[in-house]
Amino acid sequence: MNFESLTQLKKEKDFVILAHYYVDGEIQEMADYVGDSFSLAKKATELKEENIIMAGVYFMGESVKILNPEKHVYVGDMDADCPMAHMVTVEKIKETREAYDDLAVVCYVNSTAEIKAHSDYCCTSSNATKVVQAIPEKNIFFIPDQNLGKNIAPNFPKKNFIFNDGYCPVHHVITVEQVEKLKSAYPKAKVLAHPECRPEVLELVDYKGSTSGILDAVETLGGEEFIILTENGIEWELRERFPNKTFIFNEMICEDMKKVKKEELIRIMEEGGEEVEISEEIREKAYIPLKRMLEICKK
Ligand code: 13P
Ligand code: SF4
Repeated sequence: MNFESLTQLKKEKDFVILAHYYVDGEIQEMADYVGDSFSLAKKATELKEENIIMAGVYFMGESVKILNPEKHVYVGDMDADCPMAHMVTVEKIKETREAYDDLAVVCYVNSTAEIKAHSDYCCTSSNATKVVQAIPEKNIFFIPDQNLGKNIAPNFPKKNFIFNDGYCPVHHVITVEQVEKLKSAYPKAKVLAHPECRPEVLELVDYKGSTSGILDAVETLGGEEFIILTENGIEWELRERFPNKTFIFNEMICEDMKKVKKEELIRIMEEGGEEVEISEEIREKAYIPLKRMLEICKK
């Protein structure tokens, strides 16, 4: 389907497409907005269309639905699910709340709606520090990602962080040895990494930040060669923005993000499809930490 027919189809059926930087390039190309988790959540509150496709993993669709209960929300593939989103339980949250007074549960958006419903604040990789800065409680239970939690904790020497043992299977497996090898193979290259990588890996890099942060850092850091330590779908936007720079990747593929297919998105727009649904009880509770994040990040 060419660009004109696609635009026509979206208009006729009142669809808008949001896409994460990790989905296939051809989906990023057909999307109306492409971004990191935070910018997509924010954008989702500003849309006029009745039907929203969130091309990404399931929790991203859930966030859109939590923020827009009256809209029809689709993800493209109902099995595209971030494994880390399931690496913490409601029981663990309850136990931690019982064990600590003066506790805030800070939930990375890569989590299920049910987990959000039991949390106090949401954050993303681009705003975790800003969100924790706004929290009065001394004890911070950071879920589900241990690495993002450990990577921001040194910014808060007066707080007591309790970490969970979740991790991203794509970022957590990157080792110090791999990064050192890449650095010696490309000694002039700057290294840019996502904060879902282990803290010891991030000690070796020139920049750590969200997918949008990495894209912006290519501009601000300057230079010609960049080792990119995040999911390889970001290559599409990197090449769009910086066609003359060299990017080196380390085979980091999120199988779930790659489940989303262009043909299926077209089919959903033409014929309809399975929608993201959340019980109103969970949705109302999950809305609170997400809304708090959006409020804190407005300032
Ligand atoms: P960003 O918030 O940086 O887009 O990251 C989302 C994600 O799933 C990283 O693995
Ligand atoms: Fe989840 Fe990791 Fe995939 Fe991001 S890259 S969606 S954290 S599995």
